[in-house]
Amino acid sequence: MSEDHYFTAQPASADQRRLISVTLAGQQFDVETAPGVFSPGHIDLGTSVLLRHVPPPPAGDILDLGCGWGPLALTAALLEPGARVTAVDVNERALDLLRRNVERVRSRAALAPIEAVTPGQVPADATFDALWSNPPIRVGKAALHDLLTAWIPRVRSGGDVYLVVQKHLGADSLASWLSVQSDDAGVPWGSTEKIGSAKGFRVLHLKRT
Ligand SMILES: C[S@@+](CC[C@H](N)C(=O)[O-])C[C@H]1O[C@@H](n2cnc3c(N)ncnc32)[C@H](O)[C@@H]1O
Repeated sequence: MSEDHYFTAQPASADQRRLISVTLAGQQFDVETAPGVFSPGHIDLGTSVLLRHVPPPPAGDILDLGCGWGPLALTAALLEPGARVTAVDVNERALDLLRRNVERVRSRAALAPIEAVTPGQVPADATFDALWSNPPIRVGKAALHDLLTAWIPRVRSGGDVYLVVQKHLGADSLASWLSVQSDDAGVPWGSTEKIGSAKGFRVLHLKRT
């Protein structure tokens, strides 16, 4: 039997859609979820902790790295009408759910544009003012480092990266790793600080150099 991780491109589990009621940016919405995507029954606890600590998004380009069914992308787009949100995931079921959730939420509230795409569909020269992510820790340390190395340098100078990571899954060692990274030209990524901690999760903020 093939393994059906939430980070599978095409989950093997039956695509049984269902509606769940969630609060996004202080408003209640029904959103569509399905098996085979991350946290299909509710907004993940780590995601909630991130949303409680992250400052309002800028009226600029925001990347939701590993968007799932979309709680971070939808919240950013509800909070800041001037934002342009790029929501990236390898899981095509998650991307389909987010596209449908964009339509659902937009029928009830003003929503900034959200593009839900695979990593390869993001133009190679696209850069961002902010990156929000509940990253896929379970892909393993090397793959996680590769993922962050691919995307954090695309956050512009002065921009902000916010990550939520469970303490027992290596939040502190990830913070140490982030603070010693530099881009190909030797420019440090930036300084990293812990800006919040709740329910076993740490929220990390990296200010781009
Ligand atoms: C911890 S989940 C967070 C999902 C969503 N942001 C949330 O808060 O509910 C991490 C997400 O990263 C996605 N992912 C895994 N590997 C990825 C990669 N290489 N590029 C982009 N997304 C990836 C997974 O499919 C999953 O949806």
